[in-house]
Amino acid sequence: MANARLYHPPHLALFPPLTDCSCSIVPRPILATIHTDALTHNLNRARHAAHQTDATNQPLRETLNNSPRVGAPGFGMGCEAQSTAIPGGIASICNEADRPNPGCDRREGVVQRFLSSARVWAVVKANAYGHGIGAVFDALRGADGFALLDLREAEQIRALGWRGPVLLLEGVFEPRDLELCSRLSLWHAVHCDAQIEMLAAHKTQQPHRVFLKMNTGMNRLGFMPERFRAAWTRLNALPQVDEVSLMTHFSEADGARGIDAALDCFTRVTQDLPGERTLANSAALLRHPRALGDWVRPGIMLYGSAPDFPEHSIAHWQLQPAMTLATRLIATQDLRAGDTVGYGSLYTAAQPMRIGIAAVGYADGYPRHAPSGTPVLVDGVRTGLVGRVSMDMIAIDLSPAPSAHIGSEVTLWGRSAGGAVLPIDDVAHAAGTVGYELMCALAPRVPVQTV
Ligand SMILES: Cc1ncc(COP(=O)(O)O)c(C=O)c1O
Repeated sequence: MANARLYHPPHLALFPPLTDCSCSIVPRPILATIHTDALTHNLNRARHAAHQTDATNQPLRETLNNSPRVGAPGFGMGCEAQSTAIPGGIASICNEADRPNPGCDRREGVVQRFLSSARVWAVVKANAYGHGIGAVFDALRGADGFALLDLREAEQIRALGWRGPVLLLEGVFEPRDLELCSRLSLWHAVHCDAQIEMLAAHKTQQPHRVFLKMNTGMNRLGFMPERFRAAWTRLNALPQVDEVSLMTHFSEADGARGIDAALDCFTRVTQDLPGERTLANSAALLRHPRALGDWVRPGIMLYGSAPDFPEHSIAHWQLQPAMTLATRLIATQDLRAGDTVGYGSLYTAAQPMRIGIAAVGYADGYPRHAPSGTPVLVDGVRTGLVGRVSMDMIAIDLSPAPSAHIGSEVTLWGRSAGGAVLPIDDVAHAAGTVGYELMCALAPRVPVQTV
């Protein structure tokens, strides 16, 4: 313990004790910080992108405006369905006063205002991309709804007090899930015949709002275009269904191929169908404003990662890192030319150099395959890894930070105490992966604080 105290002296302690301050156990100096100001900022960026001129979103909007209305209650623009009382004490979820976007109304003038802005689902699946639903909820509650796929996470959002829309992106997995949808008024995707069967057999007083999903080329979930209208007709006829909205998910909104073929297909098949549309993830929202539809579904951008990195960075999209992973140097070593570093001796010093050993490894979620040169900040100065990532440690070249010492702050991604930023995308790219994976891989042993 004496050594541990030496490595984590109180005057250097950035990190609060994990549990009981009076106990003699000193935690490893590693901490993830969730920045609520960044989450809110990024949500505002999403809202800004969703607020386009009518012209940019015109093809879909015209479709929507010309849509015939059908007899099911709440059909059309979707607002009547939302005004129904929700069992279990959850009240109306289409309250104009609660809604940052105007236009939950079918009257012409209001629709005109509505036309200029899509509503925003904050995608919080996978425990809010590793940030923790509880940690992000307050910062993201300015969204119009939360989209996720785990029913326990949907329960958590309701338990946190969210009374607005919640969308299950993959729909239900088994019949009893529909009971939870009825009880908690969850909207759900319908992507296959089995889910229609489940709905048809479901006994409910509470007709459901569903999002019928078309497979426009991703080939994961959704009805093929040629089967989509038959599925719509069947779904629309069910008494269990209140309103059918239309959904797809682009496979290449971030890439060179773009969304043209998928959007054309979706538009062609759905053009005379009524109901709201949701199409765009972060990449489509930022790069393809003509595909906004009525609801956009940003995920990764909310957490401060650029969906189309390295073509564009978070600076380009004016996003801020929502997660910082930080630790400290727990040792330094002076190497001679020819000395090697770490398991497998993957790195050889070409000349005398000083390296630092930081308390983070793959057991914390840091990628083991990150090679030498992967960026890292030491006391806010950008430098790089040397050698292989171990379970609990990494080695860092201290040449650019000659005054670094035991206890120096090491930022794996996010913001340093002094304000220097290391985007998670830079680290992910160096390690041959994406920001999504690093965020989601944050290990349970890493303490998390929300600021
Ligand atoms: C159906 C669906 N919509 C939206 C998103 C959010 O995507 P992104 O995080 O790229 O914005 C996802 C995430 O993969 C998704 O599966």
